[in-house]
Amino acid sequence: MRVQAFRSVRVDRGHAAYAAPFVRRTGSIQTPGTVRSTAGPHVNGRLPDQTKRRAAFMGTVMRTPNRLEAREKVTGTACYTVDLARSPVEGRLAHAAVVQSTQATGRILSIDTTAALAVPGVQLIMTHLDAPRLKPINTLPGGELAVFRPLQDDQLHYNGQPIALVVADTAEQAQRAASLVAVGYAPPAHPPLLVLDETQAETPDVVGAGEPAVTERGDPDAAFTTADQRLEQEYCTQPHHHNALEPGAAIAAWDEAGRLTVQLGTQYAYGDAYGLAQAFDLGVKKDFKAVMKTGSAEPALNEKVRLIVPFVGGAFGGKKGNIHPLLAAMAAKQAGRPVKLVLSRRQTFSMMPFRGATRQRIRLGGSADGRLSVMLQEALVQNSTTSNFIEPVGEMTPKLYACQHLRTHHRTTRLAINAPSWMRAPGVAVSQFALESAMDEWAYHVGLDPLEVRLRNYAEHEPQSGHEWSSKSLRQCYQAAAERIDWTQRNPAPGSMHENQFRVGYGMATSLYHVAQMAASARVRLNADGTAVASSATHEIGQGGMTALTQLAAEALGLPLDRVRLEWGDTRLPYSSLTASSSTTLSIGAAIHAAARQLKHKLARLAVGDPVSPLNGLNPETLRLCEGRLVSETGQGEAITVLLVRHGLASLEAEAGTADELGKPAYGRAAFGAQFVRVRVDPLTGRIRIDRLVGAFAGGRIVNPTLAHSQLVGGMIWGLGQALMEETRLDEGTGRWMNADLSEALIMTQADVPDIEAIMIEEDDRRGHPLGIKGLGEIGVVGVAAAVANAVFHATGKRIRTLPITLDKLMA
Ligand code: MOS
Repeated sequence: MRVQAFRSVRVDRGHAAYAAPFVRRTGSIQTPGTVRSTAGPHVNGRLPDQTKRRAAFMGTVMRTPNRLEAREKVTGTACYTVDLARSPVEGRLAHAAVVQSTQATGRILSIDTTAALAVPGVQLIMTHLDAPRLKPINTLPGGELAVFRPLQDDQLHYNGQPIALVVADTAEQAQRAASLVAVGYAPPAHPPLLVLDETQAETPDVVGAGEPAVTERGDPDAAFTTADQRLEQEYCTQPHHHNALEPGAAIAAWDEAGRLTVQLGTQYAYGDAYGLAQAFDLGVKKDFKAVMKTGSAEPALNEKVRLIVPFVGGAFGGKKGNIHPLLAAMAAKQAGRPVKLVLSRRQTFSMMPFRGATRQRIRLGGSADGRLSVMLQEALVQNSTTSNFIEPVGEMTPKLYACQHLRTHHRTTRLAINAPSWMRAPGVAVSQFALESAMDEWAYHVGLDPLEVRLRNYAEHEPQSGHEWSSKSLRQCYQAAAERIDWTQRNPAPGSMHENQFRVGYGMATSLYHVAQMAASARVRLNADGTAVASSATHEIGQGGMTALTQLAAEALGLPLDRVRLEWGDTRLPYSSLTASSSTTLSIGAAIHAAARQLKHKLARLAVGDPVSPLNGLNPETLRLCEGRLVSETGQGEAITVLLVRHGLASLEAEAGTADELGKPAYGRAAFGAQFVRVRVDPLTGRIRIDRLVGAFAGGRIVNPTLAHSQLVGGMIWGLGQALMEETRLDEGTGRWMNADLSEALIMTQADVPDIEAIMIEEDDRRGHPLGIKGLGEIGVVGVAAAVANAVFHATGKRIRTLPITLDKLMA
């Protein structure tokens, strides 16, 4: 594998203006030669030139450190929930293993635990007959636990449903005993529904996090009927499982006062804490929607439940609102001792969520010059009887191209399977396969270059609202990626390009993702020794968020990075929104900045009222934090440490939330990108090799180019998996996932990954948010599958409309 070094291209427009505030905030611009390594042992001293240039641009010292926890991660000292061998509260840790149903529907007739209980070390086996009764849970939008709570009755909803939990002294004893539990089933009254059947579909009220199931503008039906040129096709995508390296894992412990502490790999500590508090009736009263909206939890939560989140070994949307922490807490209650539960890889397929299959009917209409007048997208989305989550396939479609008439429409079929849920770039990852394949077909239909057809339909304004974009550099993305892959030397005729025995094809697709800010809170504390701590219960799921947020805390406090520490991963800290939707850097960064503003006000009031301070009598509003000092516009200033010490303060802190920042946007906001790919296809075997994949992305301000680049490349690799490999197959007789392990659920490995390049186009997005950040966690995956399918068509003349693009489909 050769992953090229990133290139960061800044948009010229507004560049100087954009740099200005950072320069002002820090007082000086570092030239590349004078970048100081101030991040201690975390920085390896050798900075790539790019990073140096970047640091110079940002006008501060060490704004682009390497991942702060890199040393712990490469030396193996970084702790994940699966690694923990001790309970967070007093008590000898027990281990649990899950018994899952082997029938999808019907009910449990009998559970014989005799042989299992005879296994040495087994303490108890919890079933629906004796498990703690749980109250309704209503936390995450679309959360499975709102519909289904485990071990409450004898009813079966899916194959793999947890039906018993063994608690033993060791994990091996528990697993051995679990295998000996004998279950008798009553057959279902009707065979379970296990195929995505259009005739059984229903129209949901809302999709995703509460977006409408139907979005419309103009008169799409009439526009399509009367369009000069028309195209209609259906595209299919398969179920995908997240397969985070760390499987689901939880340690739950109750103390004598009836408080629950859970260590958990999750993307949403507060959401899961709240769900547990609801389930065990621990006195939380507020509707969770209000918690999410206000960005603060009620105090009762922290008195009764504590969630501790160590490093999380990948999440991708699959680690929140899960069943396993609930089971661990139930077992710990029953057993009267702390319980650790780790799912096996196979169990993660049926006890953790996945992305459901989709079928999308796309209709495009327009004129012979390629301009679209109408887009119609009708999505049938696979769902389960235990889930309210509907993949928001049409979420971004209305923002994609400038066309007057449009409708996106969702229908869903509920199968007897475990619950699907969010997965990296929910909705848009599968939507853009269909839409951008259709756009490629449209380009050939009207006889235009695929890139040209997109430029002709470029949305200069946000097409649904008519608002101006806060910023949009998609044109620059197209240009940068097209140049890089040599798009102009592509012969447009399908099947016309060759290299040795291979056919060669070039394909491209547009990528986009929403900009999301969620309400969150943070606390910052300045210490009299010149250090600072920023705190929020956020999560490090491998994305590098902790590093980016430490950088933003240093920026907000006007301190060098090595003076600032971030506290995270614990519900004893201020409320953090979920780490999802590519929203963490912006959401938590904004909360830290808000808290820092409060703290600055406190310091400023202290200084201006202090006759000894050089800032005495000044307007506190005009003061700012810079390089460890509180300074005025005219250059007077005082070191914060001096100010604190003189006032006998060991530290000063402030807490703030961002709920009031989340008004109705005056601008259209989205991140955009372009994916270009070159493939080689062997005409004899149908084998597809990706030669090169080039993506260019514009996601606002880049806080840490190294980590942003990793996010983008990771997403792009996943997109290749979506294109060529990923498909979890359901046995339509039993409802069991057939390839539920990493030897048969194919994912990209080193040898499959080609030359990948991610280009970052930096934008001035301060119209979108004063921090200028959009988000880059998910956009990298979007559009890759379509670009590959389009390149395969260009190479072979064969259009594959069902993912993954496997040899059998190509050779059929
Ligand atoms: Mo991501 S699917 O928004 O966790």
